[in-house]
Amino acid sequence: MSYNLLKGKRGIIFGALDENSIAWKTAETVHAEGGKFVLTNAPIAMRMGSIKELAEKTGSEIIPADATNVEDLENLVDKATEVLGGKIDFVLHSIGMSVNVRKGNHYTNMNYDFTTKGWDVSAVSFHKTMQVLYKKDAMNEWGSIVALSYMAAQRVFPDYNDMADNKAYLESIARSFGYFFGKDKKVRVNTISQSPTPTTAGQGVKGFDGFISFAEKMSPLGNATAQECAEYTVTMFSDYTKKVTLQNLFHDGGFSNTGVSQEVMEAFIKDEE
Ligand SMILES: NC(=O)c1ccc[n+]([C@@H]2O[C@H](COP(=O)([O-])OP(=O)(O)OC[C@H]3O[C@@H](n4cnc5c(N)ncnc54)[C@H](O)[C@@H]3O)[C@@H](O)[C@H]2O)c1
Repeated sequence: MSYNLLKGKRGIIFGALDENSIAWKTAETVHAEGGKFVLTNAPIAMRMGSIKELAEKTGSEIIPADATNVEDLENLVDKATEVLGGKIDFVLHSIGMSVNVRKGNHYTNMNYDFTTKGWDVSAVSFHKTMQVLYKKDAMNEWGSIVALSYMAAQRVFPDYNDMADNKAYLESIARSFGYFFGKDKKVRVNTISQSPTPTTAGQGVKGFDGFISFAEKMSPLGNATAQECAEYTVTMFSDYTKKVTLQNLFHDGGFSNTGVSQEVMEAFIKDEE
């Protein structure tokens, strides 16, 4: 299914590591909808991942950049506008990493160097990316910038650890920078708060399997898949969502507004005998 929704649009997609990545599915879907883009990821992920395969499939170039490094981001934006032949219409920030989660440090026993690193990668990198785009005046009017978030920014999910704080910060950056990007450049900035999704980053969270099945049973429409997230993101890049900005948009099958579901209740009802 394709509607040519992004015909003539140019973009930058961060965070495609392997075929499970939300950014990978987004790149494929953007390509199917007629958009052109460059792919980027941290230099270390280039060696681990299979991003070259995605680049070939979608006819895109790869420009490595550590999203915490402003010089890398400046080089990325310069090269992207050169390769794509003009200013940028859409950007996907699909980046997350917590060193405390990786090392198994409990939330009550953080290593603060790790906390700072994870915050820089998962949240401040979004500010850095937007600041570089803003200063270089690299976005077209009515362009769209999206970052991916998770509901632990609003509610407690104990094993999500310091990523919860990083996501809260990320969503706040979207609002604060989105104000200036909207006023000065007519560019919209939003976060999409996605269901738990089986990817490398997702599966790094302790207890992920329990987590994903609980969410599946709680959500009236079931969990949103990575492909469905890609499709939603495409609508946010299209001209049909021009006045949506400063929002955190839940894409979770209804999970965020459900108090309890029949299936979850049944798991707790004892036999009445
Ligand atoms: N998987 C889930 O359950 C879920 C749910 C909601 C939101 N999200 C968010 O979706 C986004 C994408 O994650 P995913 O689930 O597709 O996992 P993923 O592991 O496929 O993607 C994470 C990406 O971040 C990149 N990255 C890490 N450090 C970087 C750096 N310094 N510079 C540039 N890139 C860097 C990784 O290389 C990787 O490509 C993340 O923001 C994640 O928090 C995921």
